[in-house]
Amino acid sequence: MIKTRLTQLLGIEIPVMQGGLQWLARAELASAVSNAGGLGTINAMSFATPGELREEIKRLKDMTDKPFAVNVSMLPVMTVGEMYDKYFDVIVEEGVKIVETAGRNPEPYVPRLKEAGVKIIHKVPAVRYAKKAESVGVDAVTIVGFECGGHPGMDDVTSLILAQKARKVLNIPFFIGGGFADGRGLIAALALGADGIVMGTRFVATKECPVHENFKKWMLEAQETDTMIVERSIKNPARVRKNKAAFEVLAMEEKGATLEELMPLIAGKVGLQAYLSGDLDIGVIACGQVVGLIDDIPSAYDLVRRIESEAREVLQHLQKRVM
Ligand SMILES: Cc1cc2nc3c(=O)[nH]c(=O)nc-3n(C[C@H](O)[C@H](O)[C@H](O)COP(=O)(O)O)c2cc1C
Repeated sequence: MIKTRLTQLLGIEIPVMQGGLQWLARAELASAVSNAGGLGTINAMSFATPGELREEIKRLKDMTDKPFAVNVSMLPVMTVGEMYDKYFDVIVEEGVKIVETAGRNPEPYVPRLKEAGVKIIHKVPAVRYAKKAESVGVDAVTIVGFECGGHPGMDDVTSLILAQKARKVLNIPFFIGGGFADGRGLIAALALGADGIVMGTRFVATKECPVHENFKKWMLEAQETDTMIVERSIKNPARVRKNKAAFEVLAMEEKGATLEELMPLIAGKVGLQAYLSGDLDIGVIACGQVVGLIDDIPSAYDLVRRIESEAREVLQHLQKRVM
């Protein structure tokens, strides 16, 4: 057990959250993380209908009695009307206790979730958004830096700086993400002032993650230089695996392509096709720089346990060196 403000707030034993990986964060992965003492997460937007989300929450509840979260990633660049409300309805009706919102201001959903006793974590790529989230009443934030897989925001600030800045200006607890893979990283994050870490890329390289084996094999060989940023021109930068599709997107952006023109390569559904088929060139695939530190495919359960024991060893080692 590693006690922080987040373990106390969320009722978990190890301050490690599994990021809301689109298409991949399903009940098998989330339950393994939660059963190991971390915070497992399923991703609401991986389900075409609120009804499908309900079924997955039920499946997850059958697989763990430990705390878990539902991530609701809202698109900042599109208008989707009331769609999100229906997903939040299901979350409340199913008695989910922890929600992670991402992509846009969670304020409209805060009163309803609070009334239902749901703890709200809001994900942001900058400290000023974290401060704003704090002011609208969320319980905690997830802050991700420039290294992270997925969307690092427009500022290009690394998690090393974000964690220290956040500790200075926030009153609520926070997970730091972007670049974490092991117990050494966890201790570093806690030393920088974070209350826990969120990992996305590291959890893709686990047995329970349903991504195609071709991608897992690639992850074992990949270096920290094998990712790149795309989609900056549409103000929604994404860190992805360097591949044919990513270089095509970049070339189109340089020529001033619109969101509609980019969609065939960046749409979430293309990523799903890549995950399922194992053809790793057909679309952009989110991946963080930390891929360069990954050299095995453990079960997510063992990974979380290992992180705890590594953290303990690192701390003992450090304690011997600080006189
Ligand atoms: C394949 C993949 C898919 C992701 N999809 C989402 C998503 O749908 N919603 C979200 O909030 N974050 C998403 N993320 C970001 C993670 O939740 C997490 O914030 C990030 O991966 C942390 O940085 P790391 O990759 O260095 O661990 C994704 C990350 C990856 C690698």
